[in-house]
Amino acid sequence: MTTGDNAAAMKSHATYSTAREATAHALRTRWAHLHEIADRQPRICDLGTGDGEFLDQVLARLELNARIEIVEPDEDLAPLAIQRLRAHGHDVSRVQDTGSGLPVDAYLAAHVLFYLPDINGWLTSALARLAPDGVLSVVQRAPTCECNALRKLVRDHHGVAPKVTSDRVRRLAATHGMTTDVVPIASTLSYPTVDPCLAPVPAQSADPELARLICWLAALPTDQRLPDALGREINAFLTDHLVDGTLTLNQYDLLITATRSVGAATQSVEPAATRAQRA
Ligand SMILES: C[S@@+](CC[C@H](N)C(=O)[O-])C[C@H]1O[C@@H](n2cnc3c(N)ncnc32)[C@H](O)[C@@H]1O
Repeated sequence: MTTGDNAAAMKSHATYSTAREATAHALRTRWAHLHEIADRQPRICDLGTGDGEFLDQVLARLELNARIEIVEPDEDLAPLAIQRLRAHGHDVSRVQDTGSGLPVDAYLAAHVLFYLPDINGWLTSALARLAPDGVLSVVQRAPTCECNALRKLVRDHHGVAPKVTSDRVRRLAATHGMTTDVVPIASTLSYPTVDPCLAPVPAQSADPELARLICWLAALPTDQRLPDALGREINAFLTDHLVDGTLTLNQYDLLITATRSVGAATQSVEPAATRAQRA
């Protein structure tokens, strides 16, 4: 991807896919505890906020205002997210990482863990930020997701294994005394087109918006020539999913939510100074 491509692809995804709406709906239920503390503005961390629309949708559904820390390295996306969330009444600060600060009531990591070099290190620090009854929510593509199948073509071509699976997240969370539950979420990507195929250099495709979206989903550069065999495989996949003039991909995500196990929650000791700061 080139500068600005992430922001544009994310916008296209929000336009043509029902994934954000479906996931925001599911997350609303898992974050219902925030209502009980709505009057003191819950604290939320969002790792990999993107354009902020997803978190914004969740909070709109919950009808509450929050104090939000975002971590977003993309210089196009971060200002969009800050502007959007502030416009809807939230206090927003951008931080480099979520390793230190006041305890948070909810921590979100949606479609971002594959960027991290050290998942266990991140999880340890994220869980250390959680208030005793805080929740950590991770959103990942399910193995059955057709966008994941597209990404798998690229991984297989380069002989690379998936970096993080939902099972791994659950196992790691368990070693930290957390209980996890998983909610599957089905959605659809529907992009009207007569020809979904990528050009050898995707940015030169007949429909650059679609090419940017496909490259974003598959983690491919838009401005570099695709290896011929990989290009053929991707185009065969895209053509197979063309139904009545619409590229249609069934998307399946997993919402993994970690809460402290009952024993751990009652044993958790929050320093008095921190407790006072939270109030
Ligand atoms: C696929 S987008 C997901 C955006 C948003 N969470 C959503 O679900 O709509 C992943 C985001 O993570 C950001 N990102 C990449 N590396 C990161 C890192 N090391 N830490 C935090 N965010 C990162 C990217 O810039 C991108 O905006």
